[in-house]
Amino acid sequence: MTLASVITIDGPSGAGKGTVCARLAAELGWHLLDSGALYRLTGLAAHKQGLSLANESAVAAVAATLPVRFEPTSDGVRVILSGDDVTREIRTEEVGSMASQVAALPAVRAALLQRQRDFQQAPGLIADGRDMGTVVFPNADVKIFLTASAEERGQRRYKQLIEKGFSASLPALIEDIRTRDERDSNRAVAPLKPAQDAYEIDSTSMSIEEVCQTVLRLVQKAGLI
Ligand code: DC
Repeated sequence: MTLASVITIDGPSGAGKGTVCARLAAELGWHLLDSGALYRLTGLAAHKQGLSLANESAVAAVAATLPVRFEPTSDGVRVILSGDDVTREIRTEEVGSMASQVAALPAVRAALLQRQRDFQQAPGLIADGRDMGTVVFPNADVKIFLTASAEERGQRRYKQLIEKGFSASLPALIEDIRTRDERDSNRAVAPLKPAQDAYEIDSTSMSIEEVCQTVLRLVQKAGLI
């Protein structure tokens, strides 16, 4: 049996991966794996069960049995955890912090590995994450590493927060991003780094549209479309 094609898009948060992956999946009619959502759901489910997020074996057991459903809707995907719609809740900063704690646990990453690979189905998969091209899909057909400067990612985050009616400090956001980059790139398990055979795209002065077109050209060059 030949496996369905996979395009991996890795990179730090704020580089535009989420939007680019959703657009590409819609344009190609392929499946989408938002691996960050699985870490967010694991953190949230463990928290709701009253577990310490440092309890590696207990949190890994939660990851292995996550009662989650992804339901496609006209404007994205609805995420249902144990029957509750948690689509918005998993995007909060609080759940983001839970996700980053559980993502550092090797047993949790191991528990989520097969679950992520199960998304590789015809006609193809766009996989969004940090270690898609390095660990989860090392044989992917096209690997992209999408970056942007810390200043630009801080600006984007600042704009999003202000639009949602929150107050925010731009210098504090940029500092936060630098600290997180440092931690993500230096952690022992699945550090954030481009796969050896990844194309690096710096989106600092590109629009989402330009990034999508660049990726589509690479996908075409690889003979996938
Ligand atoms: O992309 P995101 O913000 O939804 O990711 C949430 C957290 O999960 C973040 O701390 C990075 C981590 N993560 C990871 O370690 N590996 C992935 N493949 C995806 C996300």
